[in-house]
Amino acid sequence: HQQDHTSHSLEGKTVLVSAGPTREKVDPIRFFTNRSSGKMGFAIAEAAADLGATVNLVTGPTNQTITHPNINRIDVESAEEMYEAIHRYYENSDIVIKAAAVADYRPKQVHEQKMKKQEGDLLLELERTKDILKSLGEKKTHQFLVGFAAETSDPIEYGLGKLRKKNLDAIVVNNVTAEGAGFGNDTNIVTYINKDEKQIPVELSSKKEVANKLFQFIVHDMKGDR
Ligand code: CTP
Ligand code: CA
Repeated sequence: HQQDHTSHSLEGKTVLVSAGPTREKVDPIRFFTNRSSGKMGFAIAEAAADLGATVNLVTGPTNQTITHPNINRIDVESAEEMYEAIHRYYENSDIVIKAAAVADYRPKQVHEQKMKKQEGDLLLELERTKDILKSLGEKKTHQFLVGFAAETSDPIEYGLGKLRKKNLDAIVVNNVTAEGAGFGNDTNIVTYINKDEKQIPVELSSKKEVANKLFQFIVHDMKGDR
């Protein structure tokens, strides 16, 4: 635990974090998901709790565990369930960090029975899920809203686009193809971009260290003394 002046920087704050992938059902035994491990989101939740915050962590299916008493864990599966849970806690939150990898599409039809194979190819129709982060940006009042963008190319350009389009206060971008960054790793390399579009790079470090750095930037930006 840190003992410097930032060690209780989130005292009295309520932080809402989303983590992990979502699962979109095809039938009772099949689903679509993605490579998110939940590690970054859990590291953020833990860092926030260590800094004195009360934390609500809405997570998709992962094998991550938490022990911190100030973290309230809410387990969800689909993007729709995540949307509902996040909106339940939104109004009462001071800082919202959306580290989850939310499915953009889900099967248009969920089969109640196991789908049996047929001759020939199968065409599955997918429909768009709700953009949770965008909906939060639209109804934002006092919250400091932070998004994530995991990209395979041009992370800064794509990140800036999402920052503007979703009415965010900051976005954390990374290139998941870089060595030591992204899915499943215990480390990450990110760039924090605030509303003024100032970019702060965070070099290769553990996801917990990355999380602590992010809260330094967030607390600084919340004070408005940029
Ligand atoms: N996000 C969300 N709800 C969705 C999709 C994304 O809340 N249905 C959030 C993610 O949690 C993340 C941010 O939006 O904080 C950016 O997600 P990303 O997948 O990078 O961006 P998209 O807007 O979905 O664009 P694309 O996947 O086409 O790059
Ligand atoms: Ca997406």
